[in-house]
Formats: sequence, C-alpha cells, structure tokens
Amino acid sequence: MSREMTKAAQPSAAARGGAPERAAADGAEPRLVFGRAWDYAPAPEAADHVTIAPRYDLFIGGAWRAPRSGKYFDTINPATESKLSEVAEANAADVDDAVRAARAAYESTWSKMKASERAKYIFRIARAIQEKARELAIVESMDGGKPIKESRDVDVPLAAAHFFYHAGWADKLDYAFHGRTARPLGVAGQIIPWNFPLLMAAWKIAPALACGNTVVLKPAETTPLSALLLARIIEEAELPPGVVNIVTGAGETGAALAAHPGVDKVAFTGSTEIGKRIQKALAGTKKRLTLELGGKAANIVFADAPIDQAVEGIVGGIYFNQGHVCCAGSRLLVEESVHDVIVRKLKDRVATLRVGDPLDKNTDVGAINSKMQLDKIKQLVDAGAAEGAERYSAPCALPEKGYWFPPTFFTGASQSSRIAREEIFGPVLTVLTFRTPDEALEKANNTMYGLSAGIWTDKGAKIFWMAERLKAGVVWGNTYNKFDPSSPFGGYKESGFGREGGRQGLSAYVELDG
Ligand code: NAI
Ligand code: MG
Repeated sequence: MSREMTKAAQPSAAARGGAPERAAADGAEPRLVFGRAWDYAPAPEAADHVTIAPRYDLFIGGAWRAPRSGKYFDTINPATESKLSEVAEANAADVDDAVRAARAAYESTWSKMKASERAKYIFRIARAIQEKARELAIVESMDGGKPIKESRDVDVPLAAAHFFYHAGWADKLDYAFHGRTARPLGVAGQIIPWNFPLLMAAWKIAPALACGNTVVLKPAETTPLSALLLARIIEEAELPPGVVNIVTGAGETGAALAAHPGVDKVAFTGSTEIGKRIQKALAGTKKRLTLELGGKAANIVFADAPIDQAVEGIVGGIYFNQGHVCCAGSRLLVEESVHDVIVRKLKDRVATLRVGDPLDKNTDVGAINSKMQLDKIKQLVDAGAAEGAERYSAPCALPEKGYWFPPTFFTGASQSSRIAREEIFGPVLTVLTFRTPDEALEKANNTMYGLSAGIWTDKGAKIFWMAERLKAGVVWGNTYNKFDPSSPFGGYKESGFGREGGRQGLSAYVELDG
C-alpha cells in the first residue's frame, strides 16, 4: 500500500466523523477523505442475559455471609461510571473467619484427600469456567473496562487453562519434584490486582489447590465481580466448604489477610510499593511469600527485524488491556537506523486503533480501570511532556462518560526521564534508541524492574545472545504477551520473586522433604 493510500484511509481527527469529502493533500492534488463512512458498525455483545446481583456477601466456609463490618462498597463500570453492584467490605474479624474456615477445611478434608480426587474438583472448576465463559467475559469487561475480545479470547480461556493444567499436576507431584516428597503448606492468603481479575484468581487458586493447600483470596476493590462468580462456580462444583474463601475489600482487608498468623503462605500480585510493605510485615515470620510486582519492560527492535510484524508486536505489547499489564512492553528500544520508519508506521497503526465501548467486539482499547489510575496516567504523561519528550496520541474521539485515555507514545525522551523509568500502567509507550546490541542490553537492564522483555530480529542467534543477558523473568522472541500455564512467569529485582505457572510455580505451594 502506498503512503498516499494509507493516509487517505486514515483521515485526520478533524476529518473523522464527517461525511465523505474532498480534501487537499498538503495543498496539492485533492483526494477523497471518507471520514467515518467506512468505520466498523457497532457490534455490541449482548449483556441482557447476564445477571449481576445488586449486592454480594463474603464467601466463607462454603456459605455467603454478611460482613461483620456491616459495610459494603460500590463497584462501578469504568466505561460508564454507573454502579454495577455493591460488595461486602471484609474487616479483620471477617478475614479471621475466612482463615479459620480455610484451616478447618485444610485439616479435615483437603490435605487428607487422595490427590486424584482433588484433581477431579479442579477439573470441574475448569469445565464450569468454559461453560460460563460468555457470562464471565461480559462481567469482566463491565467491571474492569477491558475489551470483550480480550476477556473472551484471552482472560477467560487462560483462566480455564490454568485450572486444567494444575488439575493434571495434582496427582503427579512426585514427578514434578523427583526423589522428594511434596507436602502442602496449609492456608494460602492470596491478594490480586485489577488488571486481570479472573485470570489472576486462577493463577493463584489453581496451583494452591493442586498442591493440597486451602485458600483465602482477596480480589481488587475495583474488580471483585468475576472472583465472586468464580466463588459461585466453586460452590456449584461442590468443593468441600472452606477450601476456597473469597473476601472482598480494599487495602486494609489485604493487609489483614497478609498479617493473619493463621496464614502459611502469602501470594501477592500488585504494585511494588505494596509488595514491599507486605514483605516488611512478613519479615521474621515463618510465612512463605511470593511477589509479582511492577515492570518497565524493554521491547527491543533490531534493524534486521521484520518491521511490520514488529510494529504489530509493539502495539500489542503496550496497548493490550489499555497497558494495564505488569509485563507490558512499555519501553520501546529501536535500533537507530530504523527509528524513523518505525515511528512513522507506529503512528499510522495507532491511529487505526478503535477506542471505546469495552463490550463492542471491534474495540481494541477499552476504558481505564479507575479514576485513580487515569489520574496517575495523566500525571506521568504531563511529566513526559514537561521533560521535553514529544508526544503523539491517537486522534480518536473519546466517550464523554467514563475513564479514557488515547493510545499514546513519546519520542525523544531521555533515559532518565520519569516516563522512561516509572511504570505508567496505561496505554503509553516511551520510544528510545540504541546503536549496538551491547547498548540495547545495557539500556534494557537499566531499570529497577526485571519482569519481561521482547526481542525482534531476523537472527535467532541474536535472540539467544540477548535473552541470556537480559535480567528479565520472561523474554519473548519475535512475539509479545504470550502466556501459557506451563510456562513460568515472574520477575527479578523489584519486579518480585517466585514463579507462577509451570513446574516451577508449584514449588511456591509445597514443602519438600528428602
Ligand atoms: P495495589 O498494589 O494497591 O493493589 C493490588 C492489590 O493489593 C489490591 O487487591 C489491593 O486491594 C491490595 N492492597 C492494597 N494495599 C494493601 C496492603 N497494604 N496490604 C495488602 N494488600 C493491599 O495497586 P493499585 O493501588 O491498585 O495500583 C497502583 C499502581 O500499582 C498502578 O498504577 C500500577 O502501576 C501498579 N500495579 C501493578 C500491578 C501489576 O500487576 N504489576 C497490578 C496493579 C497495580
Ligand atoms: Mg468495577
């Protein structure tokens, strides 16, 4: 496609929304501008068959219980700002009830059950997630703002896959840890974030159960609904009462769970700041801890890379899930000789991203998860501009209600600027350059984080050379944001420690004898 045609197909912001008209290209020959005439027609996923209860209690000991706190808080749809439901706010006494229920279930049934029997329950959860996939995807998109095509094609199938995968391990732990005996730890207290609510619940619950532990899980306060639907599934799967308990609430509830003396293992995914706080609270106790925290991943593009594929990978790497992704490729490192062509192609591609209604099947970028997160993104973007970087934002129309941010990238930023160092956790990319593989490596590793990285090149040897030297838990070659339950995920440095998924992930939930 010629440059001229590309331009004509992607009209300027001013032209969008208008009827087909003739416009002069750079004062030269007039050309056709189609405005919105060729836009996708709306394709909303029907949500009328999904029932969200007006109020949810706590799921403790296999029953739904009103919180001792007596308090409830709203969860809203960030795309519309309308209230979806209200959920219980668990206080320390509620958390105590949940931990006791988990302990009782651990001692009376779950740790004593034959592993092959445990596996059957976990398989049952996996199948029920598949059966209710549509409902789960819709609720996930409504509660958190992510595009339905992602919740439908990524979050929900991967959540089911995690339960299937770990169900398979339950009676094969002897093979996972050769020559040693794996014993469960007891009660796992698990705290998860709002960017992949159901998937993170699966990442946490599935391995814990497979290894014979019981669970108290606290979902994030802006996105509790899919975990509550999962609690219903667990109830329908007839797991023994107390094996999985779900307590909703905000930071205080999470802190009470992490600090509870009856918890044997804490697993946390969220911000580095809170991760550090939890680590401090646990210091000197015998509790086991895994932390999966923030990131500022380098996505590295060499001049010999297939450029168009790399551009797709860059876009997927940062704009997937509005950039609310701990392993997002938020620092783009491009070899200097291809910088200009990549920036030009990136601009063209970003301008075509469809931002808007998360329930529309054509939407690429949905709503920002919360007002708080939107404010944080705006603040960092302002800092980027103030520090002298050049900003490009997609010329898209944003809905009036709700929390939105256009897909954006910065060029000409210095390595020391805030947008090159801090996790923005939004649809904002910072483009930097390098001239040699050594320089790419040095810049990529020059971060307090170390969760993930991407490498784009025609040369397999270069991928191996770089991957060996990158201080990142996951390194993708000529692809990005690929997940599989059999593949361990986790970080270095301030991105945390411990692995989730794969055989490696099981070791976080067992004590090994011998
Ligand atoms: P957060 O770390 O506060 O929230 C994560 C979870 O921890 C939530 O369930 C929350 O209720 C809980 N929590 C909060 N305070 C706690 C405490 N003292 N003890 C135990 N649990 C606690 O993250 P937040 O405030 O929602 O987002 C702030 C920033 O963190 C984001 O802008 C983003 O940069 C980063 N973040 C990173 C995530 C990741 O996956 N790496 C996920 C979420 C946020
Ligand atoms: Mg919500």
